[in-house]
Amino acid sequence: MSYQIAIDGPAGAGKSTVAKAVAKRLGYIYVDTGAMYRAMALHLLRQGVDTGDAAAVSAASRHADITISYADGVQQVLLNGENVTGLLRTEEVGNMASVSSANPDVRAKLVELQQALAARENVVMDGRDIGTCVLPQADVKVYLTASAACRAKRRYDELQAKGESCDLAAIEEDIRERDERDMTRAISPLCQAEDAVLVDSSDMTVEEVIEKIASLARK
Ligand code: DC
Repeated sequence: MSYQIAIDGPAGAGKSTVAKAVAKRLGYIYVDTGAMYRAMALHLLRQGVDTGDAAAVSAASRHADITISYADGVQQVLLNGENVTGLLRTEEVGNMASVSSANPDVRAKLVELQQALAARENVVMDGRDIGTCVLPQADVKVYLTASAACRAKRRYDELQAKGESCDLAAIEEDIRERDERDMTRAISPLCQAEDAVLVDSSDMTVEEVIEKIASLARK
């Protein structure tokens, strides 16, 4: 049986940084499920699909072949054979992913891919519904969060470091809107699994969070 660590939480809580580091430490595969939803969103953006039209989103999602491969241990996402990994981390794609991930056909397709990966490999998988829906039998479940103000400040610092102009209040507003959408959608909303350990990283360093999660895996 593969060993499964599920990390869920809202946007900007540091899930991917921490999940990547925990996977490296334990020699597991890191599966970034948000990147799969982002690849689907990129496909829908390219097709010019109206997200208000659920049937159109479902139809277009059927023509998206999304696969995952690893290059030097780093997840690569292929969309219809094209490596789109470098195109996924924009605000436009993130916002589209937050909207289109509410579609049941989009979710069914990507959950199947995620479950197939976790059945084969020891994984650290992060997302919104991993502990509640994708891997309900995961060996370790973590709900990683931080205050919206703290998550906005981290995102602001990241963008500043890249030399991109940005507005802290607008970023916080965007984060709150995304939380609201992710937590209130009808299918697999973001919520803490009953058996998940709550980790609030607002006042923790990245290293402390990594150590906390790695220690849960060792038990
Ligand atoms: O983690 P992220 O920002 O890359 O995720 C992008 C969007 O994808 C997020 O707003 C909600 C959606 N998502 C989801 O619904 N379920 C997941 N397991 C992962 C992401």
